[in-house]
Amino acid sequence: MPHPSPPTPHILVTGGCGYIGSHVVRALQERGDSVVVVDNLCTGHPWAVPEKVLVKGDLADRSFLSQLFSSHSIKAVLHFASFIQVGESVHAPLKYYDNNVAGTISLLDAMSEAGVKKFLFSSTAAVYGTQATVPIVEEAPLRPGNPYGRSKLMVEEILRDCGQAWGLETVALRYFNAAGAHPSGEIGEAHDPETHLIPLVLQTAAGRRDAVIINGEDYDTPDGTCVRDYIHVCDLADAHLLALDSMKGGSGNRAYNLGNGAGYSVRDVIDACQRVTGKSIPVKTGPRRAGDPSVLVASSERITMELAWRPRFTSLDKIVEDAWRWERKLAGK
Ligand SMILES: NC(=O)c1ccc[n+]([C@@H]2O[C@H](COP(=O)([O-])OP(=O)(O)OC[C@H]3O[C@@H](n4cnc5c(N)ncnc54)[C@H](O)[C@@H]3O)[C@@H](O)[C@H]2O)c1
Repeated sequence: MPHPSPPTPHILVTGGCGYIGSHVVRALQERGDSVVVVDNLCTGHPWAVPEKVLVKGDLADRSFLSQLFSSHSIKAVLHFASFIQVGESVHAPLKYYDNNVAGTISLLDAMSEAGVKKFLFSSTAAVYGTQATVPIVEEAPLRPGNPYGRSKLMVEEILRDCGQAWGLETVALRYFNAAGAHPSGEIGEAHDPETHLIPLVLQTAAGRRDAVIINGEDYDTPDGTCVRDYIHVCDLADAHLLALDSMKGGSGNRAYNLGNGAGYSVRDVIDACQRVTGKSIPVKTGPRRAGDPSVLVASSERITMELAWRPRFTSLDKIVEDAWRWERKLAGK
């Protein structure tokens, strides 16, 4: 009697129906990896992934997770699922600690039970808070200025403890500002409410909003508006594949920044959007947003040196072009 072939091990992607997760799911599938997505669709969209890979469920549901791990052979977990709004986290911190920290603990507990020991975590530049020195390196002091950033830092610390306790191998990818969309125009950013600058500016260019509100023009930056480092979502996806492939077993805990190393002010972004769309974009000044540092620019030298990651989309105009193609498609969805 021939032995039945063992089941193909899957990569489990939590939050795969969200903006960044869906691009990583696509990149994994394009190279032939077998993927299972867990998402409760609280902010994600079922259209963002192929129907057959999606299992609808919540990370807080521990028995659901046990069932998932026992019914699938999982070799690694890529964990995107979380709440992501800095401003909201300031007003509703427990919501953030509950989903982002307690939800992750539930997931890690299920992994420990199932003996799955590779974990790739969506961390954030928000773990750094305001820094005196830019570009920011991974060794910089970690002092998040809002509950969202603190929830991510807590998870990074929990991961280190799990590494020591049961051999979990982890990579935390600290994204700066994810932007752009898949060049195919088939998937992209669709948050509701949208709080990210490029889609807000482009929705204004498309006439779906009256004006862009600039949240503070009195920061200590060249034009007084906040400066951020925008990284194309497909460059983020590439980094996930490299980080996943670099996990060889063992209990290492690594963290990598992911940005382009170039800072653009809110006004720079509005100018780029005007160039790309050919439209004049109305602007209004509003108050500072709670928890916003003035400048966040990455040094991504560590991931460049250790994993040979190179961003393919370094031009802000190219990032905006892809986002604009997607924005026009989304308007018709
Ligand atoms: N977008 C950025 O610029 C950015 C920057 C830094 C870090 N990050 C991190 O990257 C990750 C993805 O961000 P995004 O912009 O794609 O967000 P998103 O809101 O588009 O995606 C998050 C996904 O997680 C799902 N989800 C949330 N809680 C869940 C739960 N308890 N159980 C199951 N599914 C759940 C949502 O339905 C959604 O599909 C997040 O962890 C975020 O903190 C994002």
